[in-house]
Amino acid sequence: MAKTVRAHTNIALIKYWGKADDQLRLPLMSSLSMTLDQFYTDTKITASTTGNHFFLNNIEQTDKSAQRVFAYLKKLQQHFNVTGSLSVHSINHVPIAAGLASSSSAFAALAGAFCAYYELDVNQRQLSRLARLGSGSASRSIYGGFAVWQKGVDDATSYAYALDENPQQMDLHLLAIELNQQPKKLSSTGGMKQAQSSPFFKPWLARNEQEMAAMTSAIKENDFTHLGQLAELNASEMHAINLTAQPGFTYFEPDTIKAIKLVAQLRARGIECYYTIDAGPNVKVLCQLRNVKDVTNSFVSVFKNAKIVNASFGPGISCLD
Ligand code: DP6
Repeated sequence: MAKTVRAHTNIALIKYWGKADDQLRLPLMSSLSMTLDQFYTDTKITASTTGNHFFLNNIEQTDKSAQRVFAYLKKLQQHFNVTGSLSVHSINHVPIAAGLASSSSAFAALAGAFCAYYELDVNQRQLSRLARLGSGSASRSIYGGFAVWQKGVDDATSYAYALDENPQQMDLHLLAIELNQQPKKLSSTGGMKQAQSSPFFKPWLARNEQEMAAMTSAIKENDFTHLGQLAELNASEMHAINLTAQPGFTYFEPDTIKAIKLVAQLRARGIECYYTIDAGPNVKVLCQLRNVKDVTNSFVSVFKNAKIVNASFGPGISCLD
């Protein structure tokens, strides 16, 4: 039955940045994320008599993104031994243009819409595994609040679970700062592959367990300072690895560096905030409610045209109808 499924975007505080298996999208490390209230994707699948179609924001897509969606649908159809041509209708609710329209909400919603369409009885863990096959980070968008994707060793053991779906006592805001609207030149899939050639990749990997444990305790202890410090360090490590890959590369633009410096300046002025950055030039700033205004105003005064969205915890995947 055609049902619209909504999944929210998540941002990793401990990053997934490397695959052990490209086909199954098994990661080399575990990761931990925060699901956001402000960014989400609604997806509905209907039957088609004219082959597969993919509509994003009501516009039919025929590029690489459509091919990726069709390949994913085929994989799921083979997995469940079901057939049929499908029309996928997705609406991305992303209040700013680029860099934050993560594949996490897209593939989580697609996995959910697929199961709803074929009336497949799957639990959240199975859904997380299915979403993972579309995009690794999507495995975590099944859950609200904080989610952990345990790396596992095979398809059955690599899935995400909720660490805290309703972290009411945690005062945590993520300001998504759009500095640059250009589409990224190197995909996450490509970047994380190239990153493995860095001499610092293995030492970083060796730190994963320790970083996951430290982040988990920061969350359990409601310790914003520790959470922010760990998130900023983990993101910086990921980007240092990109710079030192052979050949090296970076997602940073001059404004990214300016934003990193601004975060340090704000901290020096007693406005506590930390950054995290994904596979693009845009910056996300973590802070507490009392500092949202000051951080926002400082960014607006330095980056006149930047769009800023104040996000907090979002819910897990849901069926809308
Ligand atoms: C930097 O999940 O987009 O955002 O599995 O190849 O689709 P694929 O990668 P993707 O990578 C996300 C990378 C990241 C960190 C993270 O979300 O953990």
